[in-house]
Amino acid sequence: MTAVTTADTRSAHRIDVALGERSYPVHIGPGVRHLLAGVVAELGARKVAVVSARPRDMLPDPGVPALHLQARDGEEDKRLATVDRMCRAFAEYGLTRADAVVSVGGGTTTDSVGLAASLYHRGLPVIHLPTTLLAQVDASVGGKTAVNLPQGKNLVGQYWQPTAVLCDTDFLATLPEREWRNGYGEIARAHFIGTGDLRGLPLVEQIAASVACKAKIVAADERDDSIRHILNYGHTLGHALERATDFALRHGEAVAIGTVFAGRLAGALGRIDEAKVAEHLEVVRSYGLPYRLPAGPADAELLELMRLDKKAMTGLAFVLSGPDGPELVGGIPESVILDVLAGMPREE
Ligand code: GLY
Repeated sequence: MTAVTTADTRSAHRIDVALGERSYPVHIGPGVRHLLAGVVAELGARKVAVVSARPRDMLPDPGVPALHLQARDGEEDKRLATVDRMCRAFAEYGLTRADAVVSVGGGTTTDSVGLAASLYHRGLPVIHLPTTLLAQVDASVGGKTAVNLPQGKNLVGQYWQPTAVLCDTDFLATLPEREWRNGYGEIARAHFIGTGDLRGLPLVEQIAASVACKAKIVAADERDDSIRHILNYGHTLGHALERATDFALRHGEAVAIGTVFAGRLAGALGRIDEAKVAEHLEVVRSYGLPYRLPAGPADAELLELMRLDKKAMTGLAFVLSGPDGPELVGGIPESVILDVLAGMPREE
């Protein structure tokens, strides 16, 4: 991590996602959104389309003429119709491959704007300005773009790496409590996949460490063929819990409970000792995250949902800690999974 030296971003960090010619920087800190004009100038873009889920007064000057499109964070608008609407507006504005797209919003916005940018004229540069903690620590970095279908989340998408990501921590000032938890769920799981203990560090350091961890993993496995799976620590049960609660549990909350479960499952399989199992609960709780299974869904239903996870291409699998670090583990007897579920703390 190296410090950014512009006057208003002295406490900022820069992390590079190393992907050869498609490498890009992630800037993190207060005020880094104002680096936008420099990024646009370096690209040589003549104009940009700014798709934003935040009020106009929070938007930085891109330094070139801009089309402003309003977006709405949330799963509701994360669909192909939104991509269609954006692409039509780009066309009406006369955007070409010599131009660029800027996304400003949470993970659902960066995902759908990223997809629109990847498709329009077979691909335009996109610059992400993530405005939620979840989007800053995870969604905006790594090039995954997607929209939902009625049949499931994130079923249509592709890899389209951004030109730069500007994680301005000033955007986080107005986040509601649950949005903080949503992001902290991913920071808590990062503890077990390479960042080490981030508790007690300033927020900007926690984000930078999470991004650095993800950048390293993405650089090693851009298309999620191997090591990138470990980013899904806690996610197998997490995704099942999101679906079982009809998304009443936010992603990061569900991942937090899934992380506690992953620790217990690794313990039950003799992969880690009791102290390490206990560390999972301790870390999740110290971020103020939920750690109990919700009262509603039966264990058999959760098991069924985990079987349907789109990541479970070769059968039910979990990312688990072990002597050689976290790895994807399949072939676990369902009786063991059910036993560990039965032993989880549970809401009344
Ligand atoms: N959010 C998981 C990944 O980007 O691979």
